[in-house]
Amino acid sequence: MTEPVVYERNPAELELEPGEYWWCACGRSMTQPFCDGSHEGTGIEPQSFVVAEKQTVWLCNCKHSQTPPFCDGSHNSLPDDIF
Ligand code: FES
Repeated sequence: MTEPVVYERNPAELELEPGEYWWCACGRSMTQPFCDGSHEGTGIEPQSFVVAEKQTVWLCNCKHSQTPPFCDGSHNSLPDDIF
């Protein structure tokens, strides 16, 4: 499996409507933080999540969160040369 690439250091703060979403885990999507199919061939799959009611979320953009698709602050522990 290919390693994910960092899209951005900071998470995406979004207000989402109820529904199902597909978070990009590979970092290659052009429609971050959501999957656009660019993961094909990487061995990495997007992660689905459901929003039950309208809410603000912080979705991981560094692709190293241990609680994906949500930011857990892991971007603060990554070396600067990864960005
Ligand atoms: Fe990144 Fe689909 S494009 S997981």
